[in-house]
Amino acid sequence: MTTSDVMLEVTDMVVSYGRIEALHGISMEVRTGELVTLLGANGAGKTTTMRALSGLLPLRSGKILFEGRDLTHVQAHKRVGEGLIQAPEGRGVFPGMTVQENLDMGCYLRKFSNSAEYKARLEWVFELFPRLLERRTQTGGTLSGGEQQMVAIGRALMARPKLLLLDEPSMGLAPKVIQQIFRIISEINAQGTTILLVEQNAQQALRRTNRAYILETGEVTRTGTGEELLADPSVKAAYLGVG
Ligand SMILES: Nc1ncnc2c1ncn2[C@@H]1O[C@H](COP(=O)(O)OP(=O)(O)O)[C@@H](O)[C@H]1O
Ligand SMILES: [Mg+2]
Repeated sequence: MTTSDVMLEVTDMVVSYGRIEALHGISMEVRTGELVTLLGANGAGKTTTMRALSGLLPLRSGKILFEGRDLTHVQAHKRVGEGLIQAPEGRGVFPGMTVQENLDMGCYLRKFSNSAEYKARLEWVFELFPRLLERRTQTGGTLSGGEQQMVAIGRALMARPKLLLLDEPSMGLAPKVIQQIFRIISEINAQGTTILLVEQNAQQALRRTNRAYILETGEVTRTGTGEELLADPSVKAAYLGVG
């Protein structure tokens, strides 16, 4: 897979909640095949960015291009149809539905053209998350936090994303589980899905990322490869707990 062509291009995106401006004009791009991280502290505007990209929040100004098409004012469900799929912050697993039913919800977002395609996708999701195959008939509410995160990512994958948006998949999980989730995210990317990942967990995210943007109070303040940012003294001080 080539990484030269731009899949997502965001230019000067401004988003407000009422009179409070949360994003002050951010610009970023994701190229086909990349795993890009948007790193920022609590309240920096990461979820706002994701919701604006998904079409759940309107832009006050700026532009979103996806595969060259202007999606700035396109409705959320149509963006899903284009392959812009988000696994939401807080997982959003339906507690009363089984793992299988939760995964199937992803298919309704973007339908398969035939059952063979559906079966192949489902098999792939179960290969990535063998745990979900074991828990297939268990209800979402009885799963651990890590398993719920697997369902959330698996459900997004069932909608066949061209660009997968992940909002803080590590949130609230134990370090060992976080490592496991990040390993699977890398694997999904290695197998051809382009990913935009939002994270507070700098160490894990930067180590596995092609490029990253640092978001501070609604502005992109720095960008570079994961390696460059891991070595940057100011990033170390602010995000890695070392001076
Ligand atoms: N529904 C809302 N109404 C008003 N302000 C909001 C709302 N959601 C988020 N904000 C504000 O927007 C800013 C960015 O929030 P958010 O995007 O959730 O940050 P992050 O995901 O990086 O923690 C914060 O100052 C937050 O208080
Ligand atoms: Mg958030």
